[in-house]
Formats: sequence, structure tokens, C-alpha cells
Amino acid sequence: MSTPVSAAATGLAEPAGVAARARALTKAYGSGETTVLALDSVDVDIARGRFTAVMGPSGSGKSTLMHLLAGLDTVSAGQVWLGDTEITGLKEKELTQLRRDRIGFMFQSFNLIPTLNALENITLPMDIAGQRPDREWLDYVIETLGLRDRLKHRPAQLSGGQQQRVACARALASRPELIFADEPTGNLDSRAGLEVLGFLRDAVDKLEQTVVMVTHDPGAAAHADLVLFLADGRIVDEMPRPTAESVLERLKRFDVIHAQPPHAQPPRGRAETDGDQGVSGAGGVQDAGIDSKPDRD
Ligand SMILES: Nc1ncnc2c1ncn2[C@@H]1O[C@H](COP(=O)(O)OP(=O)(O)OP(=O)(O)O)[C@@H](O)[C@H]1O
Ligand SMILES: [Mg+2]
Repeated sequence: MSTPVSAAATGLAEPAGVAARARALTKAYGSGETTVLALDSVDVDIARGRFTAVMGPSGSGKSTLMHLLAGLDTVSAGQVWLGDTEITGLKEKELTQLRRDRIGFMFQSFNLIPTLNALENITLPMDIAGQRPDREWLDYVIETLGLRDRLKHRPAQLSGGQQQRVACARALASRPELIFADEPTGNLDSRAGLEVLGFLRDAVDKLEQTVVMVTHDPGAAAHADLVLFLADGRIVDEMPRPTAESVLERLKRFDVIHAQPPHAQPPRGRAETDGDQGVSGAGGVQDAGIDSKPDRD
């Protein structure tokens, strides 16, 4: 088992505890020869009150990691805790309640309900839970995300970026303590993207929420406190206090290794954290279409 990534080892100030934790987290899809090992015995501690970014090539397991940490999918092996509660093994009903009370999730696909308008989509999780939205907070979210004049529109009447902002507002509406955001800026122009990032940053700094965000954009990752790099279902590196430049440099190192002929590559598993493993062959950073140019900052 690898050493769990923990903020204590990053040089960042001691976090206010652990918001989510995984040990030996493994997810396999399919069976027999077609098995895909999406996550390979991952150990991770997500520090409470921090903004953590997750990066890595397409197919490296980022979305799978988020789904499992949020209790949205079953694990093949390993354990997940939200705070002190182990969620692996919880009954569906308990899990649903825990998720509803504590987690906001922004999916890579927006998962908006087509027959509901934007406002109804935003408040849906709370309506289901029988919770009353905090009007002031909801107004703030809607205002900041620039959705005021789109609230009556249904998803099909909104642009991709607007749909993304509705999904963002939905995740934030109940002011969850833990927010998972899967490429929340992927479909946004740079202004709207910066707003979403600023919003997530504020959620951490001003509201003591915890944010975990998948991104392919070094400029977006630079808003985080810590970046975790995934490759082939493993965490291969981490970077505290990232800048767009340092993240870009790190991604280039994936590229260099990827560009070398196979015999020039270091042996797999040489070190858990040097980022050398798991970027060989198909699915390397360049193949994966990672945009290694920051489009903002
Ligand atoms: N439902 C599924 N059935 C079979 N394989 C799956 C399923 N979901 C994911 N996978 C596989 O698991 C691996 C990890 O997928 P995942 O969606 O976590 O990648 P990702 O890092 O989020 O990629 P991207 O950057 O493209 O979103 C991929 O090889 C993918 O094909
Ligand atoms: Mg994904």
C-alpha cells in the first residue's frame, strides 16, 4: 500500500481534519479479459477546509475517484470514509441521507432534469430532502453565477456554459460541507470559468467548505491548495501551492516520459510519488488531449 497523500506532508498548514479518506480504494469495471482497473489501491486523505485539484490523463480514474469518495458508486475493494463515517458498507438509505446532507456534486455531464427549469433544477436536491433553501445564500449563488435572468429556462434553452453554471449552483445551493466538482470549468468561457473558480475558492476561504475539483487546466488547478496527479488509476504525484506554471511544468514531465521510447522509460513502480509510472503507452498526457496551455491567468 502506498503512503496516503496527506496535507500534513505537503508543507501546507495543518488542516482542520480530514473531510474524506480512502484506503486501498480499488475499482474494476467489467470482468475477465475486458477488465479495466480504473482505480488501483489508492490511499488518499482530503483535508478539511482545503481546495484540492485532481489532474491526470483522460481515463486515469479521476471521475471514478470522485464518484467513489462521494459514495455515488460501489467500490471493488478498499474503504472510504466521509469524516469519521465509513461509507463503504452503509445501506443505500443511510448513504443517500449522508450524501444529501453533506455533499454537493458537480458532474462532468451536468445531469440536469430536462423538464425542470433552471431554478427548479438548482433547488431539486433540497426539495427532495424537504429542506428549505436559505434565500439569501441562494440569491448570492444565483447572482454570482450570473443566472438571474435564466431561472425560468429549461436546460435545452440554455447554452452549455449556462447549464454548467446551473449544475454548479445546484451543488452549492444547500451549502454542503464537501463539494466535488468534475471539470466544472470545462465548458465555460474564461470569464465564467474564473467566476466558478473564485466561487469555489471563496467556499473554502470564507465558508470553510472543502472542495475537490477535477480539471485539465493548469490555470484552474492553480486556484487549489494542493494538486493530486493521477495516472493509470494511481496517485503518482502531488503538488502543494500550485501555480499555473508549476503545474504546466509538471504536466510536461508526463509528456517527456510519454515521448521516450519504451526501453528508455524507468521501471514501473520505482517510486510512488515521482510521477514516472503509469504514463506509458496509450492514455498518456498528450494522447489524452490534456490542454497543457493555460487558457487563463
Ligand atoms: N461504467 C464504466 N464501465 C466500464 N469502464 C468504465 C466505466 N466508467 C469508467 N470506465 C473506465 O475506467 C477508466 C477511468 O475512467 P474515468 O471516467 O474515471 O476517467 P477520467 O480520468 O475521469 O477521464 P476523463 O478525463 O476523460 O474524464 C477508463 O478507462 C474508463 O474507460
Ligand atoms: Mg472524468
